[in-house]
Amino acid sequence: MATPWRAHDDGINFHTRKWVRPEDLNANGSLFGGSLLKWIDEEAAIYAIVQLGNYRVVTKLISEINFEASALQGDLIEMGLTATEFGRTSLTMRAVVRNMITRKRILTIEKIVFVNLGDDGRPAPHGYDSITYDRDRMPREHAATDTIRLPGV
Ligand SMILES: CC(C)(COP(=O)(O)OP(=O)(O)OC[C@H]1O[C@@H](n2cnc3c(N)ncnc32)[C@H](O)[C@@H]1OP(=O)(O)O)[C@@H](O)C(=O)NCCC(=O)NCCS
Repeated sequence: MATPWRAHDDGINFHTRKWVRPEDLNANGSLFGGSLLKWIDEEAAIYAIVQLGNYRVVTKLISEINFEASALQGDLIEMGLTATEFGRTSLTMRAVVRNMITRKRILTIEKIVFVNLGDDGRPAPHGYDSITYDRDRMPREHAATDTIRLPGV
């Protein structure tokens, strides 16, 4: 049965949209799953960095993925994530991807686990237990240079 279309889906806000281009297609002419997984992994990494305030986060686990529908060249798709569990060093998220043109759900991933790392590359406590909707935890170091120059600082 078709999934009812709502602006929000189980508390998930859909922030990121993608335009399916020729380089994103498989030999069948539909969206290549590998492209979609790359976008989701990047989206989850950004979400984890914003939530945990640390750019040293890595993908630990992606649970079963059921591709329910696909997309064709020119379709617009939207991705949404929400945190479902804050562990000691980990963050678990749920992801939904939808096709904005056909209004079908493309996939749901129940568990994407990222681990927060310390400078030594080992799991480190992140100290958070709830979602932030602000930018109050943004990293204070730069991933490439270790320093950030904010305007007026
Ligand atoms: C991430 C990594 C440092 C974790 O090392 P580890 O020895 O498993 O660490 P720990 O056992 O201390 O577990 C760290 C956290 O991950 C969680 N975790 C470990 N294995 C897990 C699994 N299979 N499923 C879900 N969570 C898991 C633990 O519960 C813990 O979370 P918590 O502190 O919130 O309870 C290590 O596995 C690694 O470097 N993996 C490669 C990561 C990577 O490069 N990803 C990119 C893809 S190439």
